[in-house]
Amino acid sequence: MEQYAIKGGNPLVGDVEIAGAKNAALPIFAAAAMTDETVYIDNIPDVRDIDVMLDAMRSIGVVVKRISRHRVMINGGNIHNVTVESDGCKKIRGSYYFLGAFLGKYKGAEVVLPGGCDIGSRGIDQHLKGFRALGAEVIIEHGLVKARTKCLRGSHIYMDKVSVGATINVMLAATLAEGMTIIENCAKEPHVVDVANFLNSCGANIKGAGTDVIRIRGVERLHGTEYAIIPDQIEAGTFMFAAAVTKGDVTVKNVIPKHLESVTAKLLEIGCEVEEADDCIRVVAAKPLAHTQVRTLPYPGFPTDMQPQMTVALALAKGTSIVTESVFENRFKYVDELVRMGGDVKVEGGDTAIIDGVEKYTGASITVPDLRGGAALVIAALAAEGCSIVDNIKYIQRGYEDFHIKLQNLGAQIEMVETDKDVQKFRLKVG
Ligand code: EPZ
Repeated sequence: MEQYAIKGGNPLVGDVEIAGAKNAALPIFAAAAMTDETVYIDNIPDVRDIDVMLDAMRSIGVVVKRISRHRVMINGGNIHNVTVESDGCKKIRGSYYFLGAFLGKYKGAEVVLPGGCDIGSRGIDQHLKGFRALGAEVIIEHGLVKARTKCLRGSHIYMDKVSVGATINVMLAATLAEGMTIIENCAKEPHVVDVANFLNSCGANIKGAGTDVIRIRGVERLHGTEYAIIPDQIEAGTFMFAAAVTKGDVTVKNVIPKHLESVTAKLLEIGCEVEEADDCIRVVAAKPLAHTQVRTLPYPGFPTDMQPQMTVALALAKGTSIVTESVFENRFKYVDELVRMGGDVKVEGGDTAIIDGVEKYTGASITVPDLRGGAALVIAALAAEGCSIVDNIKYIQRGYEDFHIKLQNLGAQIEMVETDKDVQKFRLKVG
């Protein structure tokens, strides 16, 4: 089983190239299958969730050619089946985008109930509410969400909860519905905008993505396009916090600084220097970190996907900090592992972490509970005294391309190991 072996203590220094955004790529793949013409997509991240999504598409007749590591060709002209139920799809969240995409294109779809990281109950009621408002009949049967209709008609939909997935899914279906759809209380995340831009480049008529209200005038069909996915702001934010936690000096390249404003604001607040240029951000952590408070919120608030990385930094800051998670109810699972490394963090009421800063972490054997919690624990291990062995890294591989290699290039002592012998070798090597 693959693990990371880490010897902490080196400040991370240097440049790191950020990959394309996983959470934009997944819905854009589903959207690409909505046209019978060929679509080329660039800047796709080479991570496991992407492979699962592309394999699911192949299994229903979509032609998928990985032209290179970061470029794919997709043709959805010969789809023979609108039931998507591969084992892989049960494990990832993004598979639910086939519902919106195929409801729009074929007026019917059956998709296995989505999985994803275990960070809360993660309902899909708002997706289903949106599909029903467009005229679809939706049932859940034998583990599948089944949606169908004779005719999809534009509608006025108010989302009861700000949801990235529901906003995108309803937008996909409404793109090929008859007439005008207005979605209110939408998610405004950069990947929502990216999916709208992609669809518009295929001939859709979507306005307002990135605001609370999205207006979609349905079109009859979509055409082929060539499109590049936006950079992954969460991968970028993770490396920015890695600089803060290891007292380093890291420049993240190929980013859109605007997408990282809340992350930048918090880094400044805790005493880091942050310099922005057109498509890169440099973070220097020369001073001791200061305590603060943070609450996760939908964009442009501080992202829930950056909450564990923030906590790991604050647990090394002087004084008491408070982190409140307001998006998912079960996103502090990594805290038990951080405590094993010497962090003084208590979770109260399930949604609030009270953090008393400690001088240092100490290396330990730790188990990754989910994608972002896992990345945060690796960062803690990079700052810790001594060696750590990190288990269950498959979660990290779902969303971070070449994570350990990018960290090595910044001077981290981290290796992927498989056997006890590898671990011993690593320990001998790092001393
Ligand atoms: C997306 O999840 C991302 N996943 C998550 O990324 C991210 O944490 C999240 O958005 C918030 O930014 C993908 O894009 C594949 P939501 P999603 O719908 O769409 C509740 C990562 O680490 N809700 O915005 O599932 C829900 O339970 C991950 O990359 C309903 O109640 O998130 C949650 O509390 C993990 N009913 C809140 O809304 C619904 O119908 C926000 O969820 C839909 C959501």
